[in-house]
Amino acid sequence: MEKKATLTVNGKTYDIPLLIGTEGEMALDISTLRQKTGLITLDPGYANTGSCTSSITFMDGEKGILRYRGYPVEQLAEYSSFRETAYLLINGELPSAKELERFSLMLNDHSLVHEDMRSFFENFPRRAHPMGILSSMVNALRAFYPEIPERSEEEEINITFARLLSKVRTMAAVSYKISRGHKVVYPRHDLSYCANFLKMMFDSPVKPYHVHDDIVDALNVFWILHADHEQNCSTAAVRLVGSARVNLYAAISAGICALWGPLHGGANQAVVEMLQDIQDSGGDPAPFIARARDKNDPFRLMGFGHRVYKTYDPRARIMEKVCNRVLKKLKIHDPLLDIAKRLEEMAVNDPYFIDHHLYPNVDFYSGIVLRAMGIPLNMFPVMFAIGRLPGWISQWKESMEDPKWKLHRPRQIYTGLQKRDYIPVDQRG
Ligand code: ACO
Repeated sequence: MEKKATLTVNGKTYDIPLLIGTEGEMALDISTLRQKTGLITLDPGYANTGSCTSSITFMDGEKGILRYRGYPVEQLAEYSSFRETAYLLINGELPSAKELERFSLMLNDHSLVHEDMRSFFENFPRRAHPMGILSSMVNALRAFYPEIPERSEEEEINITFARLLSKVRTMAAVSYKISRGHKVVYPRHDLSYCANFLKMMFDSPVKPYHVHDDIVDALNVFWILHADHEQNCSTAAVRLVGSARVNLYAAISAGICALWGPLHGGANQAVVEMLQDIQDSGGDPAPFIARARDKNDPFRLMGFGHRVYKTYDPRARIMEKVCNRVLKKLKIHDPLLDIAKRLEEMAVNDPYFIDHHLYPNVDFYSGIVLRAMGIPLNMFPVMFAIGRLPGWISQWKESMEDPKWKLHRPRQIYTGLQKRDYIPVDQRG
């Protein structure tokens, strides 16, 4: 196959190299376009723009495929743990038993949060959203854990990765405990990554928390499914901010801010709020579907649609199974699950949703899983953020190691006023 395309502008023809990925995806390599032609491309929202090459995650939005480092997400959800998947994303290969043990020890070593940071948590207003708290605290980590010049760069980077993976989980639980006015629970060396989080969240001196294996399994799958998703909004934010060579804490903090939005990581919270609204209005999803179809109404069905997936999000199918399983095992009957199933059935058979290729995304069932675990609604995006950390870290690492690395600096087409002269204030009409 010819590896170039041609572009003709005002009678002049230019060769544009074609780039072909390992799964056959093709791109026009326009990196020298402006230099050769004086032209830029315009692509609001970057729907047609690749910002990098990457060997971490493959997704096919038409076929509903998602793989991390070549492994189908379905297999990882079935057989792996979040900790192992994090290692895979960051290091490129599944760990040996020894490597996994070393990684676990590192996570354990870095799980405590500096005691002086406690006063930060305690002074946020009680109603502050945990995502705002988390992004601020992650940024503050740099002040508490500055670089140690005696360490090699590799050592420093690996410690920073472990710190983030372990401390963000601890900080999330601490902020929850403090928001409730409860005693903080410290991490324990004898518990797994997920079990530790649940214990820190829910254990109390007056009501000991028994870690339930089914909840641990569900949490592992929840976090595996969120672990990476190639160049989504928050990952793009991490890469963009990181491209200015800021420290990793600042770049991850930017990712958390991007994830907070209801069109991205805030959608799991928005889905449950929407299902509650349907329940409060009598339980019939039909009027909500009608609103979503109405061009004059800004309302959208939360948990439906995706920039890349034009079919079922593969994570949504797995999440639905987890949801059914965990609710059954815990003998929970959640009326929101019935509503979600009715809503899905109606929407996927509705011509508007079919024509617009709108199907459930990962957030559609995940909120119901989190509710079953006892996670409060405003912590839902935080749960997503903990899960996405390995993805952010691995994407940041890849961008730092890229020999073609460049500061991210998009261009624009200016549509404002042309040059005009300044008028002193006393002469303005
Ligand atoms: N409900 C109703 N209509 C929708 C929805 C929805 N959930 N999503 C998209 N559409 C419609 C739009 O109105 C638009 O219609 P039109 O072409 O007739 O004007 C068309 O589908 C395309 O919409 P865009 O906003 O251009 O598509 P985009 O790819 O930018 O949107 C997004 C993707 C933001 C996820 C969108 O589908 C949405 O808002 N979904 C609801 C929020 C949500 O669930 N977010 C989580 C995404 S997954 C994640 O981040 C983990």
